[in-house]
Amino acid sequence: MTRPIDLRSDTVTRPTPPMRAAMAAAEVGDDVFGDDPTVNRLEARAAEMVGKEAALFVPSGTMANLVALLAHTGPGDEVILGDQSHILHYEVGGVARIAGLVTRTLPNLDDGSLASADVERAIRPQTIHSPGTRLLCLENTHNRCGGAALSAATTAELAGVARARGVAVHLDGARIFNASVALRTPVDVLAAPCDSVSFCFSKGLGAPVGSVLCGSREFIARARRFRKLLGGGMRQAGVLAAAALYALDHHIDRLVHDHENARRLAEGLASIGPFRPVPPQTNIVVVDVLRGDVDDWLRKFEQAGVLAVGFGPGRFRMVTHLDVDRADIEEALARISRIAGATAH
Ligand SMILES: Cc1ncc(COP(=O)(O)O)c(C=O)c1O
Repeated sequence: MTRPIDLRSDTVTRPTPPMRAAMAAAEVGDDVFGDDPTVNRLEARAAEMVGKEAALFVPSGTMANLVALLAHTGPGDEVILGDQSHILHYEVGGVARIAGLVTRTLPNLDDGSLASADVERAIRPQTIHSPGTRLLCLENTHNRCGGAALSAATTAELAGVARARGVAVHLDGARIFNASVALRTPVDVLAAPCDSVSFCFSKGLGAPVGSVLCGSREFIARARRFRKLLGGGMRQAGVLAAAALYALDHHIDRLVHDHENARRLAEGLASIGPFRPVPPQTNIVVVDVLRGDVDDWLRKFEQAGVLAVGFGPGRFRMVTHLDVDRADIEEALARISRIAGATAH
């Protein structure tokens, strides 16, 4: 049996033996009572890293975004989202169903940003007729835009437009450390223009579970109640927070290798006839399929032990991570090359 090379997502990584040892040794308490010293340490550390006053540990990136939406707005308010945003496409409509928000979508540009003139135009004047525009959400790195990293300057420009009109800004920074490494810009600089920022430990950072939402003390106090409402109050969560702390200590600098591997993967795929990868800036490689059906290709890849996911019409996605090294990338390319050679389309 060929060993599968799993490039579906950077969420497929398994905790390393030293990370598991850190989890086993974690000091714990009941976090809903505020008693878990490891969670408290993680929240303080995360807030400091992104330059905010406070932080809240939550089970997932989806919950971090939903809690942010709830804590920034009230039912019937309007949120401005990119039309390729994760909140819009992959969070099961929680923005409408649970937060009760009207969504105003603006076209995402290829670099994951929005046009500032579009944001300006989308902010409604306060009238008796319209929903109040309360929140702008940005995403860094941008998943559906192929892991594009949003610069601090672009973030500041877009956030500036919103905040000048009294609209708060949330940054879905699920992969903000990838952005930080790719742009050589500290995460607090990337997050500075935004009122709140969330990021995930369970993606490129390689922890098994967990995300964090950061913002002002007052905002995080409100967010804590919404986490409880959603059932996200965990008890001896220090076991999970220990993995996240380990990841912050050991798994940030190595992201540069994931980005190099993604570039090599894209370069290799580009030389195999039917595929046109978008040159990656970070660890996500989006590939346009020029010949044949995407699902057929993905099935053949899987039979050869290479896992990827469909990513909209005529596209698939591959993501590099902690559990694939350069040799795995070369092996994946060799397997795909053999399939493409043997496939007459
Ligand atoms: C940009 C972005 N935001 C949020 C999430 C949600 O994270 P989770 O899967 O932990 O709910 C993801 C997951 O892939 C993501 O890519």
